[in-house]
Amino acid sequence: MTTDPKTWSQRFESALHPAIARFNASISFDIELIEYDITGSVAHATMLAKTGIISAAEGEQLVAGLEQIRLEYQQGFFKPGVEAEDVHFAVEKRLTEITGDVGKKLHTARSRNDQVGTDTRLYLRAEIAKIRHQLREFQYVLLSIAEQNVETLIPGYTHLQRAQPLSLAHHLLAYFEMADRDWERLGDVSKRVNISPLGSGALAGTTFPIDRHFTAELLQFEGVYANSLDGVSDRDFAIEFLAAASLIMVHLSRLAEEIILWSTQEFGFITLKDSCATGSSIMPQKKNPDVPELVRGKTGRVFGHLQGMLVLMKGLPLAYNKDLQDDKEALFDSVKTVKACLEAMAVLMSEGIVFNGDRLAAAVAEDFSNATDVADYLAARGVPFREAYNLVGKVVKTCIVGGKLLKDLSIEEWKALHPQFESDIYDAIAPRQVVAARNSYGGTGFEQVRKAIAEAHERLGH
Ligand code: ARG
Repeated sequence: MTTDPKTWSQRFESALHPAIARFNASISFDIELIEYDITGSVAHATMLAKTGIISAAEGEQLVAGLEQIRLEYQQGFFKPGVEAEDVHFAVEKRLTEITGDVGKKLHTARSRNDQVGTDTRLYLRAEIAKIRHQLREFQYVLLSIAEQNVETLIPGYTHLQRAQPLSLAHHLLAYFEMADRDWERLGDVSKRVNISPLGSGALAGTTFPIDRHFTAELLQFEGVYANSLDGVSDRDFAIEFLAAASLIMVHLSRLAEEIILWSTQEFGFITLKDSCATGSSIMPQKKNPDVPELVRGKTGRVFGHLQGMLVLMKGLPLAYNKDLQDDKEALFDSVKTVKACLEAMAVLMSEGIVFNGDRLAAAVAEDFSNATDVADYLAARGVPFREAYNLVGKVVKTCIVGGKLLKDLSIEEWKALHPQFESDIYDAIAPRQVVAARNSYGGTGFEQVRKAIAEAHERLGH
């Protein structure tokens, strides 16, 4: 297995060592870019003809040949091996087989450096659109569950200690908001992905009268790189994407962690449905949350790719360096991981879990998560909050010692603690009221949650 010596200029006398050829080649992974490579080349060939750099007939032959390769690939007939080195050479070589000498004109006024940058951006632009669509679907799933659970209560935690009860919808809508930012962020990243480096040449531009704005327009780029050196060596857009992908994974992983906790016997807030859970090969009683665990686990890969890309870039002198070939696996794997995790989490949330209503209702009724409401009760009646807070702290302590909850105190006991207490204290500390009362903007009060749901529908456009 040697690289075809004709690949390189006459300067080379012998072929590559097979091990080096394998090491140098990117075809095993950059084949993923083939359709974008063809699309980019079609635009380039069209531009060469339009500017008179090649004839109109030659332009047509190149475009027809490129489209034939696209078909051959789609039908499974075009499978270039390591001898092609990379997808760009593979396509050019096949084009020359199909069109003869005219194929050799395709690479006029272009370098693989601006070519690979173009391909990668076209790929990422398309993948970002798909991921954004998936984010919207995921948000829709969260919103649907939220809608059905406005009045379902769930303990809210800080420090993983029971803090204040919440509307389950409010809890789920927090993830809706995270996904919304992810959607926005990817839209923002897209703006910088969508700039054309094509026509930057190897690094310095070209001697031919090309029209970079024309190719950019054909490829629906929003603009062109203003500096050819920057054009061929910038990978900020890839790093920005990996950062955005990492945040998506942070959010999915946090939800995954909660699902895992909620499904434990200790919490018991949800039951995993058989369609989304797995068993143990030895312990027949087990039902494992493999899906959220995998999501949590895969998060590390995406973070790793972000770190890898940052380190890959930090020491690179201008302009193109072969190190840049290594951006692709990081990108491809991150794209695949994010898409797979979004899909799995959307299915898990929509079909894989059942909230255990009784268990949740019992959970919010059996703790001191209404203690703030006792303090608020006094504060609303003129007692300075800090004073009320201290008093309630003492009450909680007494209750714990006596094995009681706040709701178990008699009205006489309340009155003895502070004369401001009246019998409406019982309503004030009932879990439902505790939640309903938090009616500040963005709070968990049912009225606020209903508004948030309506507003979320608007954002999704329905
Ligand atoms: N396969 C290469 C890459 O992915 C294409 C660009 C090669 N450029 C070069 N000057 N060797 O980066």
